Amino acid sequence: MNLEKLIILAIILAILTLGESDPEIVVINQGGSQYNVTNLSDFNNNLNATFAQLRDELNAGKYFATAEQPRGSDSAYSMVQCRKYLSSADCIACFTAAESLIRKFSPANGARVVYLGCSLRYESSNFFDQSTQEGRFGSCGNQTASDATAFQTAVSGLLADLQVATPKINGFFAASKRAVGESSNEVYAIAQCVESISESGCRDCLQVAYGNINRCLTSTVGWAVDVGCFLRYSESPFFADNQTTDITPFLKTGGSSKKKAIIGGTVAGGISLLLTALFVWLILSRKRMITQKGNILDVTELQGPINYRYKDLVSATRKFSEENKLGEGGFGEIYKGALNNGKVVAVKKLSIGLSRRIISDFENEVKLISNVHHRNLVRLLGCCSKGPELLLVYEFMANSSLDKFLFGERRGTLNWKQRYDIILNTARGLAYLHEDFHVCIIHRDIKPSNILLDDDFQPKIADFGLARLLPDNQSHLSTKFAGTLGYTAPEYAIHGQLSEKVDTYSYGVVVLEIISGKKSTELKDTDDYLLKRAWKLYENDLHLELIDESLDPNKYTQEEAKKVVEIALMCTQASAASRPTMSEVVVLLRSKGSLENKPIITRPIFIDPETRVRGESSTSTTSSVSNATASITDVSGR
Ligand SMILES: *[C@@H]1O[C@H](CO)[C@@H](O)[C@H](O)[C@H]1NC(C)=O
Ligand SMILES: *[C@@H]1O[C@H](CO)[C@@H](O)[C@H](O)[C@H]1NC(C)=O
Ligand SMILES: *[C@@H]1O[C@H](CO)[C@@H](O)[C@H](O)[C@H]1NC(C)=O
Ligand SMILES: *[C@@H]1O[C@H](CO)[C@@H](O)[C@H](O)[C@H]1NC(C)=O
Ligand SMILES: *[C@@H]1O[C@H](CO)[C@@H](O)[C@H](O)[C@H]1NC(C)=O
Repeated sequence: MNLEKLIILAIILAILTLGESDPEIVVINQGGSQYNVTNLSDFNNNLNATFAQLRDELNAGKYFATAEQPRGSDSAYSMVQCRKYLSSADCIACFTAAESLIRKFSPANGARVVYLGCSLRYESSNFFDQSTQEGRFGSCGNQTASDATAFQTAVSGLLADLQVATPKINGFFAASKRAVGESSNEVYAIAQCVESISESGCRDCLQVAYGNINRCLTSTVGWAVDVGCFLRYSESPFFADNQTTDITPFLKTGGSSKKKAIIGGTVAGGISLLLTALFVWLILSRKRMITQKGNILDVTELQGPINYRYKDLVSATRKFSEENKLGEGGFGEIYKGALNNGKVVAVKKLSIGLSRRIISDFENEVKLISNVHHRNLVRLLGCCSKGPELLLVYEFMANSSLDKFLFGERRGTLNWKQRYDIILNTARGLAYLHEDFHVCIIHRDIKPSNILLDDDFQPKIADFGLARLLPDNQSHLSTKFAGTLGYTAPEYAIHGQLSEKVDTYSYGVVVLEIISGKKSTELKDTDDYLLKRAWKLYENDLHLELIDESLDPNKYTQEEAKKVVEIALMCTQASAASRPTMSEVVVLLRSKGSLENKPIITRPIFIDPETRVRGESSTSTTSSVSNATASITDVSGR
């Protein structure tokens, strides 16, 4: 090809990309439910009817529409949304493409397609009020911006502002741009929520999306998506100048056009005065927190945790009644609570002896923990302190914890794939805590009861970060929280040596439990608890015998099963340095086939969980303790 042709081609390309028409049919996320509809022809009738309704609405100039056909055994619910900077024709073109792509998921009873230009989703039950769900996230471009630091500052500022403004804007859409440093470059971004969720739902969703896009910010482009919202930025413009939204009025306190529209008349005066006072108070208390810590990023500050009122939590949990009690974790009792706005939460009453230093640090610690957003970590929503009483408010997880599925009422109900997913995604959650969050958080108490499962059996790790509240240097000895025997790495249990490899060890033990269906502390015969047995079998190349007999052997390959056992044993090696990091575990688990370059796995130290560990001696003595899952409190430390 000669130069002329190249230039002409470039011009055509430029016209195509800069021109008015671009429905942005670039897939950024797609997926279908693992469940099938019961009566496909019935369902297709309903689905086709909803798609026709959606099309009608878009033809009428709308950019967002929902439709439902709740008839027959297989109801259909559908939703479409176009980015508002598209032309109406591009919006319809985008929908047409999405409609044909989403059909490839048939007969799944739910599916979604997200393009840069529009999103389409259908389900067999109503999902219109959903704002966040597990497993929706984003991606970063693979090129780094030229002035990465200035770019990152500009993007994070812009996205943070969009996150604040968009929920307050009618129609839940905002497009804005910002200058990068002193240069003439600009960065462009949009935020959008589905119009069938509430203002707070929009805020929640954007907060999660922002958390997910946060690691991108030096890339030239990035986006994040969740069921209720969409966030995108780019170093090049993707909407016209006259399509930008003036977001400044919505960044000011009380600057919500929506609120103003709802509140009217004379009563309004008093209410808005109250609101303003509340806002001013919130701003002031935030400022105070910032100056205390000093070095908090200006971004995290905008999405800080909620300070709940004690009174509200008392009434939400019906005065911490027995019926509302969900259980007792290492750090205190947990209650189910229904807030005034209908949101269901889990409230944890901390019952650890906290030092003064901790209480004064409490808010900052809560702030730090509440900024941890990952789909495999339970979210901390906020806190409340009243006198010595400290309460933490978490998202509520309807399904119970992993131990119920391994050893409890629902024993044996998880199949191989589900178990493998739990193993992989728990590793991802831990890798995030250790390596991706800006502070390395060591959990110190990984065990099945701290791994909660959502509706899709995806794991979410609970209670992370709380060990940070404990006094330094002695948490392993003087409290009952920082570890549970059977799961605790020997160097931590005995010498208090803390590193992220402590979590790797506990994780390895949990993996053995997941695939064997046996408790780590359960003795088959004396002197043969799980880790020891696993090691013996491995040495004799019999480790497949460890796999839970209740699992269908046709559903996994021997290679895969062996690999998981070997990874678990790598994680529990005596020397912390020999154990892999959690991100290495993720890579190993995701690799196909057996482990490459057969790793040399060294022997674990065997601490018999039936016995007390004493002092500095490296293993155990045999004085008895009745409770097999005795916690570290029972370790006499010196
Ligand atoms: C759903 O249907 C597809 C295609 O008919 C089939 O391959 C798949 O196994 C089904 N899934 C379930 C969970 O029944
Ligand atoms: C699906 O439903 C239709 C009408 O409700 C019925 O006629 C048909 O037999 C059903 N098909 C199956 C496979 O159940
Ligand atoms: C639904 O629409 C698709 C695509 O237009 C078509 O192939 C299918 O036959 C329709 N199904 C029913 C049950 O109307
Ligand atoms: C970046 O991504 C694009 C498109 O996804 C691809 O074509 C290109 O090779 C990638 N570049 C690098 C350096 O990975
Ligand atoms: C925005 O600018 C384009 C040209 O760049 C013009 O065609 C369009 O009408 C303008 N839209 C509005 C709402 O002013």
